[in-house]
Amino acid sequence: MASEERTADAPRTEGAAPKVQAVVLVGGKGTRLRPLTLSAPKPMLPTAGLPFLTHLLSRIRAAGITDVVLGTSFQAQVFADHYGDGADLGISLRYVTEEEPLGTGGGIRNVLDHLTADTIVVFNGDVLSGADVGDVVNTHHTSGADVTMHLVRVGDPRAFGCVPTDDAGRVTAFLEKTQDPPTDQINAGTYVFRREVIEEIPAGRAVSVEREVFPQLLTDGRHIQGHVDYSYWRDMGTPEDFVRGSADLVRGIAPSPALTTTHGESLVHDGAGVAPGAVLVGGTVVGRGAEIGPRARLDGAVIFDGAVIEAGAVVERSIVGFGARLGPRALVRDTVIGDGAEIGARCELLRGARVWPGVQIPDNGVRFSTDV
Ligand code: GTP
Repeated sequence: MASEERTADAPRTEGAAPKVQAVVLVGGKGTRLRPLTLSAPKPMLPTAGLPFLTHLLSRIRAAGITDVVLGTSFQAQVFADHYGDGADLGISLRYVTEEEPLGTGGGIRNVLDHLTADTIVVFNGDVLSGADVGDVVNTHHTSGADVTMHLVRVGDPRAFGCVPTDDAGRVTAFLEKTQDPPTDQINAGTYVFRREVIEEIPAGRAVSVEREVFPQLLTDGRHIQGHVDYSYWRDMGTPEDFVRGSADLVRGIAPSPALTTTHGESLVHDGAGVAPGAVLVGGTVVGRGAEIGPRARLDGAVIFDGAVIEAGAVVERSIVGFGARLGPRALVRDTVIGDGAEIGARCELLRGARVWPGVQIPDNGVRFSTDV
């Protein structure tokens, strides 16, 4: 979209306040992605070769929004160390840090002093999406809403809060997870606010935008507009989704302006070694300096920098942390291996197993079958 005429933030004269600013919430602890998030904030985990947040910031930039505030808390310094003033991405980046996490609503309120535009687009920092940001902003302007919420349709809305709308697209309710959802529309984690609405969020305490701010606005009869689209969407908050999102980026199923080429079945970084006979499929990523042994099979695997997968090991839909090692013929499926962990030969780790950083499991130490 960068090369197209239309942008969310129309051209402005030098020195004038921007018409649209972005806020990205990146202060969560990412507990569902532990142990990976013990050493790095979730938005900075490597995803198809880049910190996840780089994909999102590039998307914001491609929509023509160049003034971005990051609402940080947990491991705040990591963001500033990596992105600095944002010039490398063609944006102006500022950081506002919560000493104690203020929640999603509190995090938005906490950056108010940095907001000068009338139109503020707020992004959850862990959503991989192909939605056109400019379209969401247009819906906001044409509907005249107080807040516009990006909504996506999902196959099984029971795991999410669902958001019904009326014939005019106006949000009518926010429903917590329910076994019998009346709609398949869910909150996609991108919102456009009128600045005055942010001023109304209580300051100085933890506030949830989803559970407190939006329901209160509806109770008060305010106008929340839904913007529904059918583009790619995935919340990267769980290991399962992180693995899928990463693979989708590699295979070009998920769009990202930060990726100039897609890679097909696998992405192997410079300095990684892949032995003859190893099989890499399903959008597998092999990080810098990682080593993949002969006859290893990696399917939808995310191998962080410096990890070692020895001969004949199998990794399916799993994440292997920085510098971790899998011994010969180990089997790892739907699992997270923490940084520096060592998994012995022929171990089997399946179905949601999580190995904490530095843990060592001896050869044959964990198995689901009785043959050795
Ligand atoms: P889990 O602990 O696994 O639920 O992850 P999380 O802490 O990231 O929470 P969640 O996925 O619900 O957060 C959605 C987005 O809001 C993420 O991008 C978080 O970084 C961000 N976020 C969550 N809580 C806070 C907070 O207290 N302050 C700020 N600034 N951002 C937050």
